[in-house]
Amino acid sequence: MTDSMTLTPSVAARADALEEKMARDLDYIVVKSRLQLFAEGDIGPLPNTGALMKANPHAHLLMGDDPRLPAMPEKPTLVDFFRLRFGPSMHLLQSAHHAKKNGLPEKMVLACLLHDIAVVGFIRGDHGYWGAQLVEPYVDEETTWAIRAHQVLRFYPDEQVGYEYPENYTAWFGKDYRPDPYIDEDYKRMRNHKWYMSGRLITMNDIYSFDPNLHVELDEFTDIIGRHFRQPSQGLGYDNSPSSHMWRAIIRPAKFL
Ligand SMILES: [Fe+2]
Ligand SMILES: [Fe+2]
Repeated sequence: MTDSMTLTPSVAARADALEEKMARDLDYIVVKSRLQLFAEGDIGPLPNTGALMKANPHAHLLMGDDPRLPAMPEKPTLVDFFRLRFGPSMHLLQSAHHAKKNGLPEKMVLACLLHDIAVVGFIRGDHGYWGAQLVEPYVDEETTWAIRAHQVLRFYPDEQVGYEYPENYTAWFGKDYRPDPYIDEDYKRMRNHKWYMSGRLITMNDIYSFDPNLHVELDEFTDIIGRHFRQPSQGLGYDNSPSSHMWRAIIRPAKFL
């Protein structure tokens, strides 16, 4: 009792001192994007830039590389994004591995490899739409279409090909979960599309791909990426494509402006 009472002020004082030292030492200030605040349920006013600068007189707002994240090369490739941003991505590697083993065409193996890149590297909700948009300038139109479609088709069984509503979705979303109306609408459009089966194939290689014992290396797909992903010579993010800014947001997610 006596100990904790005597210790408490000194611990608090040490914490204060540490915080002050951090503020003095820090030469950059990170301000989260509105979307990141929304995701924390925060709809309050954005941080006051003037007050932040005053509290951290030796710091600047972060406009360059984020020192907390691995440095990206000047001209990043898709593989660099896998290695330096997306983390282990075993689900994607396993999906592509299955697709390859099942004899899918290479552009569909690539679709399986990329189908969830928005989950591992960008925004979860509507990840099929985001992922398709990210890769659209660099892959075959059918690959993009299939990635977008998997977002929708995974909610709808197809008995003819033996695809059932994923069991884990019942646990994750509840047994009464129904896809949003815009997903239903897209399903009707996609069901009759000439590439329906390509989107369906992603969902079929997707659900069987959560195997903790199967280790797959990205190197297994170097050739397929080389043949079917049009890597821009300027680097992803700097090639003036319709999705360059999205790749840059993954490179520098906390850039102030
Ligand atoms: Fe997905
Ligand atoms: Fe997936």
